[in-house]
Amino acid sequence: MKKVAVLASGGGSNLQAILEHFASLGPGAAAQVVVVASDRPQAGAVAKARAANVEAVVLRDRQPDSTEILDLLAAHDVDLVALAGYLRLIPTPVVDRYAECMVNVHPALLPKHGGPGMYGLRVHQAVINAREKVSGPTVHLVTHEYDSGPVLAQWAVGVDPSDDAATLAARVLVAEHALYPRVIQALAAGDRSRFPLRPDAGYLANPPITPDDIRRDIIAAFSGRVSS
Ligand code: GRF
Repeated sequence: MKKVAVLASGGGSNLQAILEHFASLGPGAAAQVVVVASDRPQAGAVAKARAANVEAVVLRDRQPDSTEILDLLAAHDVDLVALAGYLRLIPTPVVDRYAECMVNVHPALLPKHGGPGMYGLRVHQAVINAREKVSGPTVHLVTHEYDSGPVLAQWAVGVDPSDDAATLAARVLVAEHALYPRVIQALAAGDRSRFPLRPDAGYLANPPITPDDIRRDIIAAFSGRVSS
């Protein structure tokens, strides 16, 4: 069983999705979340972790060369780090130590609409401003530059002409919740054969809009029933 640390600054809905997915897998879970760390004591992720009886730690050291995170991960014998809305820069020694074992979820189809300062509704507003017909989450390995590591999985979510940043964010979040835990499970199980997982051209041309369809298609992709 791999040990996962989740780093989060915000509401923690992805953390919740990860916890619920592993719980639903029962003995089939290849990983368990052993610690959650946040730079914000009031983050919803901290409360969600504690409600699930997972240790939650508030990070205090704001220095870019801090060893606080590295020490925490070592103390918990962490194998895999999942960033879930963590807004601070990850110190270089952490990136180096967890190269290939640290993932992030971004709410747009990278390399578009990512990079420093691109988080929250700004991402979705940029997608709308660019008149994209398709958006969706990207799960990627973390490297030294924001949002630039190798892509492990992306999933297409249709942008509706009536969307604003908030409605688009809500629909992409549904896809994040289906995609991210499954990528983490596959990584923890050592199954990289599905990566990079991307929707095929036909799906990209006509991505579904409804959350139920998006969720169903992602689950099917991980069951090997959809070509990608
Ligand atoms: C998500 O949209 C994720 O893509 C981005 O930050 C947000 C975190 O949301 N990196 P939550 O805290 O998991 O609800």
